[in-house]
Amino acid sequence: MSLTWSHAFVNVKHLEAMVDFYTSALGFHVNDRADGVAFLSQLDDEHHQIALKEDANQGAETSRVGHFAFRIDSLEEVKELYNALSARNDVGKVVPITHGNTWSIYFHDPERNGIEVFCDTPWDATQPFAESWDPNLSREELESYTTSLIKERGDLKPNPRTHVEFGRV
Ligand SMILES: [Fe+2]
Repeated sequence: MSLTWSHAFVNVKHLEAMVDFYTSALGFHVNDRADGVAFLSQLDDEHHQIALKEDANQGAETSRVGHFAFRIDSLEEVKELYNALSARNDVGKVVPITHGNTWSIYFHDPERNGIEVFCDTPWDATQPFAESWDPNLSREELESYTTSLIKERGDLKPNPRTHVEFGRV
């Protein structure tokens, strides 16, 4: 298993000013934006390199880190990591969440920084999108479950990342 960097999810006090800075000063574009979260990227095949969530009430003692996110290659590796981490007592509860375009697990490192590890699904999905998923499902069952969630929100479209990298639609 190897992890590659994907994105940071950061809590911010002033969303408008932060989005303006990241777009006008650093050249990011906004891919999706809803419910106080803006998803920014400069890459066609990475939905967000940074996500900014407005949390105007956070105090100085509150971490700005929502989570750091790493990609791994396969669903099997996500499931294996879920099982391995769930057996540990230093990471708290491991929570499986699908964003439609990912099958993710969330947990805290031993100092309670949020970590997401995910693999891509074959599909695109408008964000924010967060639903639980069951790591005990087979790939076939999980694909059926996930596509039905995406179809509730709109059309099924290929994930540009998996489409480009693996030729899968
Ligand atoms: Fe994330």
